[in-house]
Amino acid sequence: MSSPSPKPTVNGSVPRHVAIIMDGNGRWARNRNKPRRSGHRAGVKSVRMSVETAAQRGVEYLTLFAFSSENWCRPEDEVSALMSLFVEALRREVDELHRNNVRLKFVGALHELDQKLRIKISKSEQKTAENTGLRLTIAIAYGGRWDIVEASKALARDVVDGTLAVDDIDDERFTAKLQLSGMPDPDLLIRTGGEQRISNFLLWNLAYAELWFTDVLWPEFDVSVFDEALKCYASKQRRFGHTGDQVETV
Ligand code: IPE
Ligand code: IPE
Ligand code: MG
Repeated sequence: MSSPSPKPTVNGSVPRHVAIIMDGNGRWARNRNKPRRSGHRAGVKSVRMSVETAAQRGVEYLTLFAFSSENWCRPEDEVSALMSLFVEALRREVDELHRNNVRLKFVGALHELDQKLRIKISKSEQKTAENTGLRLTIAIAYGGRWDIVEASKALARDVVDGTLAVDDIDDERFTAKLQLSGMPDPDLLIRTGGEQRISNFLLWNLAYAELWFTDVLWPEFDVSVFDEALKCYASKQRRFGHTGDQVETV
């Protein structure tokens, strides 16, 4: 009988992996009678703060949802403002991330991005590849269903090639084909902006994540709000199907 691989955790622990749905930039801008793109711009400082705070608190993996597969449906000027912002943010932030020993990785349908951004992405990944500090993953043009479909295709190809038997497909082999392959599942998912939904983020990997939602809009997400989420996480008993008594005797 297979069981979820993560071990029950005791209270008071720091999540190894935090994932964040950075939502609310548009509303932040609208509240100030500004164009939506200024909300996205204002959100960059919250990204910087999250990276610094995660590293300081001992989080090993931070995964940020920056642009979903569905966000391609937004007005063309917003999409292009976001793409330019990604290029600019990489140009301005990568040296500092590198100095702070952060290892950067991008996941998603990156081939859909324009060439300028793809080049920036691969250069920033190469530059930080040997770093041993926080593992920062940015999801761009990412969708959880797309991720699962791509993993299924990869497994199917292995079966066709004769390198994998259908009956050998299991949780572990499936996970290994996903975009976050090699990383532990997120322990804590934070979503800003008031909505309590997953919006096609890491559908497979969030199976046992603790979910934490706040009305705070992404540009206003600060250290105290991040710490509130970590504190709430630390108060949870993660049972993974066990009983509370079983967890207490681990
Ligand atoms: C999140 O903020 C950023 C992206 C999805 C790219 P939104 O732009 O969705 O902000 P709201 O939800 O409209 O306020
Ligand atoms: C989710 O936010 C995607 C990102 C934060 C990148 P959305 O604003 O796109 O989500 P919905 O449309 O409100 O579900
Ligand atoms: Mg939104």
